[in-house]
Amino acid sequence: MAKSSETKTKSPRQNPQVPHIAIAIMAAGKGTRLRSKHPKVLHEIGGKPILAHVIATAQKVVPARDIFVIIGHEAERVRAAVRGTGVNFVVQTEQRGTGHALMVAREALSGFDQVIVLSGDAPLITAATIQKLSDFHTSQKATMTLLSADLDNPYGYGRVIRKGVRKGGRASIEVQQIVEEKSANLRQQNIREINSGFYAFSGPALYEHIDRLSTANPHGEYYLTDMAAVFQRARKKVVAIKTSDAGEILGSNTRAEMMMLDARLRLAKCRELLDAGVTVFYPHTCVIDSDVEVGADTVIEPFVQLLGSTRIGADCRIRSYSIIENSVIGDRVTVRPGTLVEDSCVGVGAILGPYSHLRTGSEIGEGAHVGNFVETKKISLGKGSKANHLSYLGDAEIGEGVNIGAGTITCNYDGVNKHKTVMEDGVFIGSDSTLVAPVKIGRGAYVAAASCITEDVPADALALGRARQSIKESWAREKREAQKRKGR
Ligand code: UD1
Ligand code: CA
Repeated sequence: MAKSSETKTKSPRQNPQVPHIAIAIMAAGKGTRLRSKHPKVLHEIGGKPILAHVIATAQKVVPARDIFVIIGHEAERVRAAVRGTGVNFVVQTEQRGTGHALMVAREALSGFDQVIVLSGDAPLITAATIQKLSDFHTSQKATMTLLSADLDNPYGYGRVIRKGVRKGGRASIEVQQIVEEKSANLRQQNIREINSGFYAFSGPALYEHIDRLSTANPHGEYYLTDMAAVFQRARKKVVAIKTSDAGEILGSNTRAEMMMLDARLRLAKCRELLDAGVTVFYPHTCVIDSDVEVGADTVIEPFVQLLGSTRIGADCRIRSYSIIENSVIGDRVTVRPGTLVEDSCVGVGAILGPYSHLRTGSEIGEGAHVGNFVETKKISLGKGSKANHLSYLGDAEIGEGVNIGAGTITCNYDGVNKHKTVMEDGVFIGSDSTLVAPVKIGRGAYVAAASCITEDVPADALALGRARQSIKESWAREKREAQKRKGR
């Protein structure tokens, strides 16, 4: 795992022609509008924290060592959630605005030719768009380049005031200033071109001028957006490039916005799977996390959830109402309706369900069957073995070709410790048996139905662990006749 550190390690410049680019991700805010005890950037969409999406995209543009995440509110929780990515962190102890976030990062970002700024709460941005923003900034020799978008409903966003428009001229690529919603006059409020919150700056110019920001605005904050006007006054070039897909820049300031982003991301994921040869019926009913992988010709029925790091093989059928989380499913597996699989591994051609529950650490072998109302936990079930009905199998090592009858229970817990049950290859367990662990059933042995097995069974033996049956001839008839006589 890559290390994260407080201050950046300056990487040597390879080629003086290529700008040395850093990406700063602003993620220090509280997210007041969410009314949540959790920091905004740790809320999940598409099955992972919003910030993790932004970092993953940034990593497609620059290496992790050149990415600086500005954290503040619940800094340690945010850091812990994404430290595995190897990015750097800058702590903004007091959150005094987006401009202030960049002021705090001065030391970390000095020495970079270009600083790209992303919002930790806008996770749909693509690497291609960031690259376009960066290239446009370089080609325009601009001091500040912002990514803008035309929105039908621009309410709440900063508006982009282009140079020259006021005098009735054509909108130029140059930008006069950005006006925040609260400061905008009526005419400005009608402008549909909004500031996305993504920027490219000339690094040295940003830090030469950033101290000119002031807090003279309705929020009393240092607005990064005011850098446009600051640069204008200093006769530096500020330009905007419009994104072709306004959907990419959407932020998640409210729960409603978050839900919309989640739906978008999941539909995009389904589309990606469809393109890769996976059939997904009624995609809007399925919940498939961003990092899930599915092989070609697998069919996913309505109302399926595939979560976390799940990988599904090719030619599988995942039937409705199944939930599979952090699990690996081999090729040609059938998962019948209502099956739950957590942190488990399922071999090629296995059949699960309906209504099976595979809990953490279940390793189901090739062609094995786990059927109706069978719960497993921390077991290995060998190739071709079957547990088709109503069982609990926990802490068990089960060989190949084992047949486990309906209602078999491994009694793995003595109230203090867990113990292991071993069933060797070719074992046959009769229905309704209880296997009191620790216990071992030797290769090819039989356990008679309804046995309570407390001692090891040698290979090829028959174990009977139940009361001997006794017959009382005519007992039932005599009882009925006695009752009839009483009745008369
Ligand atoms: C900002 C822009 C607005 C733009 C919009 C696009 C400003 C002043 N306004 O508004 O023009 O249209 O984004 O989505 O920049 N943050 C910090 N430290 C702080 C304050 C914020 O790190 O002190 C982080 C937040 O965690 C968030 C990001 O900066 O990830 C943006 O802040 P937010 O408060 O969401 O800005 P908006 O009101 O959306
Ligand atoms: Ca925002």
